[in-house]
Amino acid sequence: MHRITMIRPDDWHLHLRDGEHMRAVLPDTAKRFARAMVMPNLSRPVTTTEAALAYRERIVSALPPGLAFQPLMTLYLTDNTTADEIRRARQSGMIHAVKYYPAGATTNSDSGVTALVKCETALAAMEECGLPLLVHGEVTFPEVDIFDREKIFIDRMLLPVLQKFPRLRVVFEHITTRDAVRFVMATPARVAATITAHHLLLNRNAMFIGGMRPHHYCMPILKREEDRQALIQAALSGNPKFFLGTDSAPHARGAKEAACGCAGVYTSHAGIELYAEIFGSRDALDKLEGFASLHGPAFYGLPRNQDTITLVKETWDVPKEVPFHEETLVPFRAGGTVGWRLL
Ligand code: DOR
Ligand code: ZN
Repeated sequence: MHRITMIRPDDWHLHLRDGEHMRAVLPDTAKRFARAMVMPNLSRPVTTTEAALAYRERIVSALPPGLAFQPLMTLYLTDNTTADEIRRARQSGMIHAVKYYPAGATTNSDSGVTALVKCETALAAMEECGLPLLVHGEVTFPEVDIFDREKIFIDRMLLPVLQKFPRLRVVFEHITTRDAVRFVMATPARVAATITAHHLLLNRNAMFIGGMRPHHYCMPILKREEDRQALIQAALSGNPKFFLGTDSAPHARGAKEAACGCAGVYTSHAGIELYAEIFGSRDALDKLEGFASLHGPAFYGLPRNQDTITLVKETWDVPKEVPFHEETLVPFRAGGTVGWRLL
């Protein structure tokens, strides 16, 4: 197959940033995706309904004319999130989930949760009103090896929460390990997972080929080849528990190429094309529409998109860097090529 027409996809995990940085990256997503679940980890985290609605307005007013993109908003869970705030978020109709970051796990996560038990009131309210919990599934204990953070999170954090809140809907975001794939497959339908393109395309060697590769550094960190193979199997399986979430996370070049560089890979410029590469290379393009366009809306109880996109198997060159407000950012495959093009 050299061409595929499919229902327009959605990105169920996206970092859009704010202000001029958001303006710089938003068109990449809005050209490809109908909707995106917008992460709340701004430098001042989006912890209230009011802040989320204001952020939504800023995104909508930054949209280039003619693009009917819809941002789906999230709240940032803290130790102090109240049940009232959860209910307000639900009633707004614009906030579709609450995001859990373990304190200190990644970019702007300092006000994340120090212990999930402290959030029981909020979690009970979410369970009650049907607002899903999106988890950054890693522990940050200093004694735990960075490559084991996800596995340990499952046993120590996720299982207890699922047991304690038997009706809470949970998305295990950007899963990276075989353990996570197995876990999600073994749980009831209320638990789903997103998978990024970069975790499908790269194993951890990619961070060190010929030297340090800061543009492949992200959280959760890239894992072993056997983990990558398990992710590919999950994505291609047609199992509705797995769906597309790019976790595209723009940082300025200087913030990545630094003595203490930021975590994040920017993939929105080829946000659906990179997935087409993987599915195409495994002769599974017929499974792409489910993964990218159907499973997510089904999980969130949202309608399917009405229009379609067409992808053709044609190689195009990725620029070495692109403008990012007063700086630049280095997109995934910078200076290289992508094998599928959006018509
Ligand atoms: O690599 C990452 N970058 N992982 C995250 O969880 C956050 C993201 C960001 O916001 O830069
Ligand atoms: Zn993320």
